[in-house]
Amino acid sequence: MSLLAVQHLTMAWGERVIQRDLNFDVHPGEVFVVMGASGSGKSSLMRHLLGLQAPKAGQVLLNNTDLYACTPDELARLTRSFGVMFQSGALWSSMTVGENLLLPLQLFTHWPQRRMRELARFKLALVGLDDCFDAMPAELSGGMKKRVAIARALMLDPSLLLLDEPASGLDPINARRLDELLLNLREHLGTTIVLITHSVDSIFAVADRALFLDDQRHTMTALGAPRDLLAHGPTRVQLFLKRTLTP
Ligand SMILES: Nc1ncnc2c1ncn2[C@@H]1O[C@H](COP(=O)(O)OP(=O)(O)O)[C@@H](O)[C@H]1O
Ligand SMILES: [Mg+2]
Repeated sequence: MSLLAVQHLTMAWGERVIQRDLNFDVHPGEVFVVMGASGSGKSSLMRHLLGLQAPKAGQVLLNNTDLYACTPDELARLTRSFGVMFQSGALWSSMTVGENLLLPLQLFTHWPQRRMRELARFKLALVGLDDCFDAMPAELSGGMKKRVAIARALMLDPSLLLLDEPASGLDPINARRLDELLLNLREHLGTTIVLITHSVDSIFAVADRALFLDDQRHTMTALGAPRDLLAHGPTRVQLFLKRTLTP
């Protein structure tokens, strides 16, 4: 069974093809990593998975519904169950951390204020920022802002969480905490996670399977468990996995 199915997907900016003929499934409850060099098309792929950028060819199916063949209402309904953190991870700078977190709830629920605030504090505690509810984003370090953006992505208890390089700019300790948080979400809430990351440590720590987008061949050249890819994958994938592996 697959939650997301990508079939013969070709992505392009104008006439320039970034990746062609991508085929993979994301299974419910798995941590699925997308890896590849900078510019290989990882963030573009995330936009395609979110219904935000139409394929040049091929399909993206969520629970068997084609995201690009359904009505706008249906697309909104389908993607409402997604938690998303974009690469920029931007917070609204004029709102407090708490207000940033409350926003998705105010948009999509009719819960009482008190319940919303409790939930926001709970999500902040999950990312280790219990004390930051009333802080302004400008008062936070880059790593803390990232964690707030992750907490915001978790507000609606998404069944599918998509994170674009959430660990970039985090120190090693917080990067490891983030890995643990992702594994906890999967274990306790059954969250399916699509994670774009450069961190080989993180790939080996959390990925059930990893997809490699090759920026020279402009297609996927590997999909599998990281350890299998390290041992038996194509040379470029093995090099990618060895290059940044910390001893
Ligand atoms: N808004 C855009 N307009 C045109 N080309 C873009 C745009 N965004 C990304 N690209 C191009 O698409 C390719 C893939 O980019 P991206 O998906 O951001 O890669 P990655 O996330 O792997 O670094 C790059 O060559 C980039 O220059
Ligand atoms: Mg990117």
